[in-house]
Amino acid sequence: MSKVMIMDHPLIQHKIGIIRRQETGSKDFRQLISEIAMLMCYEATRDLKLTDVEIETPISKMTAKELAGKKLAVVPILRAGLGMVDGMLSMIPAAKVGHIGLYRNEETLEPIEYYCKLPKDCAEREVFVVDPMLATGGSATAAITMLKNKGVKKIRFMCIVAAPQGIERMQKEHPDVDLYVGALDDHLNENGYIVPGLGDAGDRIFGTK
Ligand code: URA
Repeated sequence: MSKVMIMDHPLIQHKIGIIRRQETGSKDFRQLISEIAMLMCYEATRDLKLTDVEIETPISKMTAKELAGKKLAVVPILRAGLGMVDGMLSMIPAAKVGHIGLYRNEETLEPIEYYCKLPKDCAEREVFVVDPMLATGGSATAAITMLKNKGVKKIRFMCIVAAPQGIERMQKEHPDVDLYVGALDDHLNENGYIVPGLGDAGDRIFGTK
């Protein structure tokens, strides 16, 4: 069973409190999403492996540390996931970035792929899939299935606000994927919005409402 890590750092929680407010405008919303992603990335990378490396400082030789293991990639789910990319890259600047676009078939309600561009060597990378909102889990589970079909073996999922339904579906369909969550909310309403949530994250990031 995958782990669900609620990122309860006070700075993350404070900033989530601000983006939830309806009076927070797009400029601040976008900036805060980026800051939250940066802080969540810092917390979610705590367990990355280190290896010893021999270096020379201007004063002497020493054994320093560097990241070991798989290289990293960040894969935002379009469109709202884009808002988290800058913050992630400010912590892990060497990561490559892939993009996955999905829309929902209004009859079947199933997510349909309309865009997928991944780093060529994605199968050898550890991938962070990012989307600010985990609602039904339809897009997130589909995106992760797409990555697995491309050979990606190590995947983590990061969202800022999650609904219990989304967490449950992710754990059922992808029990090998750990979940990094800023806040776990109460439920989904009849329109698929997270309650209390923060509204439509994509519209608020890009000012399209
Ligand atoms: N996507 C959003 O942007 N907001 C929600 O509440 C649910 C899904």
